[in-house]
Amino acid sequence: MLTEFTQSESLLKHAQAVEACMRACSRKLGDGTPEAEQLWGIVGLLHDFDYDRWPSLEDHPYKGNAILKERGYSDEIRRAIMSHAEYSGVTRDSPMEKALFACDELAGFITACALIKPGKSLAEVDAKSVRKRMKDKAFARKVNRDDIINGAADLGVDLDEHIGFCIEALKPIAKELGLDGSAAKAG
Ligand SMILES: [Fe+2]
Repeated sequence: MLTEFTQSESLLKHAQAVEACMRACSRKLGDGTPEAEQLWGIVGLLHDFDYDRWPSLEDHPYKGNAILKERGYSDEIRRAIMSHAEYSGVTRDSPMEKALFACDELAGFITACALIKPGKSLAEVDAKSVRKRMKDKAFARKVNRDDIINGAADLGVDLDEHIGFCIEALKPIAKELGLDGSAAKAG
């Protein structure tokens, strides 16, 4: 489903990154079942699947929502995906919906923080360095700092802790994300 609609390498990585964070959040905040982890993971993986083709505010995530409905994805999944767009008017009510919002921009920001490190690796990133970068307005300007701050607050987690938590969630897939240090060695 994801690769059918998404060609952008960076967007595919973003999808995997948010999936990993959502799976970790599910283990921490969900009901602990493998089904829940799968569900939270799918929501993370697919939340931007329509963005490569239809990036405008009029289309994303509405086009995706219609396609998901056609293909029989549940209301729970579709509602969560709709709720990650501030402008959709769909409120974030469930822990899964709150987690998606709290992980989305942050996953992108952590990735950006890793890419400017000498080794281009996640191992070089910690919550403190991410917080410092958040104050640097010129850095990764497209990432909305307020979304990161409000997302964690609404999820009911401490921001520093949440940042550290997401960094750890991303580490097992560092290689897939190109953040395991091999990119720097390759030149
Ligand atoms: Fe996203």
